[in-house]
Parts: sequence; structure tokens; C-alpha cells
Amino acid sequence: MPSTLTSTQSSQMDAAQGRPQMMKAIAVFPGRPGSVHLAELPKPAVTDIAGGRGVLVRILRVGVDGTDKEINAAEYGEAPEGSLFLVLGHESFGVVEEVGARVTELMPGDYVVATVRRPGMSIYDRIGTSDMTTDDVYFERGISRRHGFLTEHYVEDPEFLVKVPQDLGDVGVLLEPTTVVEKGIAQAFEIQRRLRVWHPKKAAVIGAGTIGLLATLALRLRGVEVTTFAKQRRPYLNSDLVEALRARYASAEGEGSFLDVAAKYGPFDLIFEASGFAPLVFDAMQALAKNGVLVLSSVTGSDHKVEVPADRINLSFVLGNKVMVGTVNANREYFETGVKDLSQAALEYPGWLNRLLTHPVKGLENYRQLFDYLEHGQGVIKAFCQVAQASGDR
Ligand code: BGC
Ligand code: ZN
Repeated sequence: MPSTLTSTQSSQMDAAQGRPQMMKAIAVFPGRPGSVHLAELPKPAVTDIAGGRGVLVRILRVGVDGTDKEINAAEYGEAPEGSLFLVLGHESFGVVEEVGARVTELMPGDYVVATVRRPGMSIYDRIGTSDMTTDDVYFERGISRRHGFLTEHYVEDPEFLVKVPQDLGDVGVLLEPTTVVEKGIAQAFEIQRRLRVWHPKKAAVIGAGTIGLLATLALRLRGVEVTTFAKQRRPYLNSDLVEALRARYASAEGEGSFLDVAAKYGPFDLIFEASGFAPLVFDAMQALAKNGVLVLSSVTGSDHKVEVPADRINLSFVLGNKVMVGTVNANREYFETGVKDLSQAALEYPGWLNRLLTHPVKGLENYRQLFDYLEHGQGVIKAFCQVAQASGDR
């Protein structure tokens, strides 16, 4: 407190403001490996957003993924300006607790998921598609320059909140990873409008982690025959989940390389790459059907080098009119289609989504357990923190 304040002034301030209510958060010091720790933040208020447009959300569940792992390994991630730490968590799920006077879109009790990226300066940011930003500096909650959701409450403008049906409460935490898949598939269809009559029949998904499984799901919901390729021999939970969608599971340990598998079951009209292992991209390029589209979604921080049959790949792309596209993040539109796909999945494959939620951890204070699952766990599909129970929940 500045010493120039009189004691009357300072006691008025105390009475008016009280001491800020604090909340727990799981944070890292970006750039310092293994720095995940429990931090404290002041609890936000609905009035933190101007014009009566604030929505105060109580966080219920937050999932963690490879991005959080990379941030804790100090390979990625940036703290907000003026903060030494970054609160982690971008896969959120919560319940609206309070809304500002000018919020018409949401009400207390609604389940919501927040989008991750916040607008920057490019033209794409200004038209609601910050997932397509061309800015080098970007803002992502829990990842880059904005605090994330591994805490107790947050406040947002409704523009960045997407409502989730009450019946999807248990699996709503899967919406954010689903949106990454939704964007990739939507982009593929958008690009393929060039063909006028493109109806993909055969698809391959490379990788059977959370994204690979959700991509398999989204393609099966669109009536596509899917071969999902991963490393590990079947049967285990992930291959069971693929087969429960009536998709085919093939593995490097079981039936050989992706090219071997493609020779048997391909060529593929659409390939969704989500293995995290970049050398497979070049195999995928060779397994693509004429007029096919290859979607790349793996964020690969390593430095693998491979030798590739450059002329053969180039020639088949040229003569076959093939396309390869990268995809990252997701804007509001893909959160909305994600909600629809999760709803359809709950009807068509009851219980399937719940089986992805393999490793729950109760309470932010058990962050070590959460990161232990993420960094060293066996058989982990989705580890998540159960931050709080929705009132009325068991
Ligand atoms: C997140 C995306 C984000 C990307 C790159 C992913 O884990 O799900 O929202 O854009 O990381 O930071
Ligand atoms: Zn993510």
C-alpha cells in the first residue's frame, strides 16, 4: 500500500474491496522444464468484462494432452505479459455461474466449453477465424500468453463460449480435442469442393490416441469406411474402441508398415494424420488415392530426418491432383459441429465417448498425479482433472 494513503483512506479501500478471494491453479514457469506446480490467482468477477458481457464459469473438468506435456518440458508455451507463470489447461468444461446484464446467449446452469485461441491482428482474426491467423505472436488460453483453465473459475465474453447439452455433461471435456478433428475434416471437404462430386469412400487415420480415435469416430459418423493405423498390436483398449465403431484397426506390429496396410485396404480418399510421428507423412502421401486429400494435424517438436522417393511422390501428386493440408486449432464454428458430432456419437455409439476418459484425477491439488499419468502413464487415452462436481451430480 503506498505510504501516502492516510489510515482512513486505506481502511475505506479495505472495506470497499476486501481482500481478493484467491483460487488454486496448476501452472508452469515457461522455459523451466518440469516446473508444474500449484499456484494461486485472484478469483475473477463477472464485472471483469466491460459492458455487462461477462460470463463467470465454474470449472468442472479439464483434460490434458501432448501440448501440456511439451509445455511442462519447456519446449513450448509462453506466460502472459507481466506474469512469471502460465496457468495450464486448454481442454475445458464448466458450468455458468453468473452472467452480466447484457448477456443473452447463456444462463446460469448452462454447461459450456471455451474456445482456446483469442483474436490477434491479422485479417483472419478480425473475421472470427483466429485459428487461421497469420500473426507470429498468437494468444491461446493455457498455451500461449493467456492463462488457461486448470483453475477454479474463469470469466469470458460469450463470443468464446459454446454451450454443451446437459446430457453430454460427462463427456463435454472431450469437446476441445474433437474440434481439432472437426476443423481438419471440414477443411478437407471445403478443399474438395474443387471436385464438384467428391464423396470419400475409404479413409485412413494414422494414430489411435485421443485425436486418432475422435477422427475415426467423426469419419464413421459420416459413413466413411475407416482404417485406423497405429503402432501397437491389437487387441487393447484403443483397438477395441476403433472396432466398436466398426472401423478396421491395423498396426505396424501386426501387419507391417502403413504402405503395406494401404496396399491391402487403400488407396485412401482421405487420410487424417494424427500419430505425432512426422516420417509417416511421407508414407501417407504415397497411400493417397487420385484426387485424395491428406490432412496433417500432428504438432511435432522433434527433428526427424528421412529419405523419401521424391520423384515418385511428386509425380503421383501431380498426375493424381492430390492435396495435402495442415490444420491447427479451431474456431467457434468447429466447436459447434463438435457438439453435434458428440451428440450423434452418444446416440449411435452409447458409452463409447466415456471409455476415452481413462484417467480421472480429483482436485487441482493432485496435479502431480495428473502429470504423472500424462508423462508416464500406461494405457492412458485421456487424463483429466475433476476440478469440481456439478451441483446435483453423484
Ligand atoms: C490445442 C490447439 C492449439 C495447438 C497449438 C493444441 O493442443 O488443442 O488449440 O492451437 O495445441 O498450440
Ligand atoms: Zn490440445
